[in-house]
Amino acid sequence: MNTTEREQRYVFQTYKRFPLKIARGKGVFVEDEHGKQYLDFLTGIAVNALGHCHPAITDAACAQLRQLSHTSNLYYTEPMLNLAQKLVERSGMGKVFYANSGAEANEAAIKLARKFHPEKWEIICCQQSFHGRTLATITATGQPKYQKGFEPLVPGFHHVEFNNITALEAAISEQTAAIMIEPIQGEGGVIIPDKDYLKQVRQLCDRYNILMILDEIQTGCGRTGKFFCFEYSGILPDIVTLAKALGGGLPIGACLATDMVASAFNYGDHAATFGANPVCCAAGLAFIDVLEKENLLEKCRESGQYILQQFNAMLSDNPLVKEIRGLGLMIGIELNADIAPQIVMNCLKEGLLIGSAGEKVVRMLPPYIITKNHIDHACDILLRAFKRD
Ligand SMILES: Cc1ncc(COP(=O)(O)O)c(C=O)c1O
Repeated sequence: MNTTEREQRYVFQTYKRFPLKIARGKGVFVEDEHGKQYLDFLTGIAVNALGHCHPAITDAACAQLRQLSHTSNLYYTEPMLNLAQKLVERSGMGKVFYANSGAEANEAAIKLARKFHPEKWEIICCQQSFHGRTLATITATGQPKYQKGFEPLVPGFHHVEFNNITALEAAISEQTAAIMIEPIQGEGGVIIPDKDYLKQVRQLCDRYNILMILDEIQTGCGRTGKFFCFEYSGILPDIVTLAKALGGGLPIGACLATDMVASAFNYGDHAATFGANPVCCAAGLAFIDVLEKENLLEKCRESGQYILQQFNAMLSDNPLVKEIRGLGLMIGIELNADIAPQIVMNCLKEGLLIGSAGEKVVRMLPPYIITKNHIDHACDILLRAFKRD
């Protein structure tokens, strides 16, 4: 059996995979089994922020793996304490709950909000949002395509238009426990709200005694050029979730909350066997260490600006292109036709990995270590991809 046949024979058919079998990765490149190289501008969907096999992460994870790989949360370990301290110091939050993925981090956030407000149960989310694939998080997700076939969904979730503060206020009721929002909608198509939107959401939350949950699973860990995207708005949420890049390629999620909100969870209220895994925490610490020492947040902002400038110069008068947008290294190109998957496939054939959000948005989530040369190389391929039919 060849690769496709083996996958179809042995693996649940929940993913429509690209015709590419990745054998290894180094820095900004991955290589297939025949040695062909691909420039990776998708980073495993915003995970490999330092590129592939960054020595600092590999060394930290291997050293930890040799020393102690798993304990469960019944015991203390040094990596989980160190990473929690780091995240608390960076975020302005009070405490961390460790999960293993983005959906799990959001699940913790949803449970925490309901526990904090025992007399309220409703959560307002946004249309086109994406919060994960557990039952509660597909309910929170404002895209019916992810919910179809899984009804009845979890009660108490409402959806309003993103970036519309009037609609948000109108949806608030006596039962509203929390508002859950992505600072920039990623899977929804790299949608950037107005500059003061998050601030206005914060004000509404304060006025109506509602918790503000920010899902920074994609925007967080430096992706937008600040460690947390909320830093651009000068506000603090009550709960913020992280995953994706946090483990430098290893699976880890985190739900952070203020001390007051975190105290709503008592012993036994929530748990995860693998949560706070020492290897993932050690990798996460190494990731943040490199981010800080190499000034990568600033580099993200600079590279992001250069990408937008180059893309605009190259594509803004292309009739297929409606809008080019982005913040830091979260970039979207909205098209006038349903050809985003085709552009992605054309790029793959030319040696560039990018993604799509729906049929109309091409998106890129490159590693923070890219150089101008990598960006120019990606531009050449992208231009050819737009010309190919
Ligand atoms: C904003 C956001 N929230 C949650 C998730 C779910 O994360 P995971 O796939 O790790 O469960 C994603 C994944 O794409 C995401 O982009």
